[in-house]
Amino acid sequence: MPDTPTSTPVSGPGPTPALHQAGPAAGVPAPGGTRVPLATRTGMELPVPVTIDVDGVPVTAYPGESLASALLAAGQRAVRTTTSGVRRAPYCNMGVCFECVVTVDGVPYQRTCLVRVTAGMRVRTSVPR
Ligand code: FES
Repeated sequence: MPDTPTSTPVSGPGPTPALHQAGPAAGVPAPGGTRVPLATRTGMELPVPVTIDVDGVPVTAYPGESLASALLAAGQRAVRTTTSGVRRAPYCNMGVCFECVVTVDGVPYQRTCLVRVTAGMRVRTSVPR
């Protein structure tokens, strides 16, 4: 019996281009992140970037984008630490899992995936216990 492939190779558009450019070390963006705006590739207009404060570090973000997106784009993969010391990151990105909670402008337990970026917002990644 001749060898017969059991599956058909899948062809697609090729590798997905990175939405955000990595910083100086591969996979570890510089503080504040270096972003390649999607809009520059799509012709969309971007809002004027704003600066937010994340644990005392200025981070550039776009007003109206989710805070989770802004933090991930800035290289902040984990946003909180559990009581047992485990770092956690946004998981569902739709407000269900609560893995992404931070303190925003003094209000604890805010889900970064539901909070929209505004200029000057202060984000603290450790939630008071
Ligand atoms: S990522 Fe699940 S609630 Fe925010």
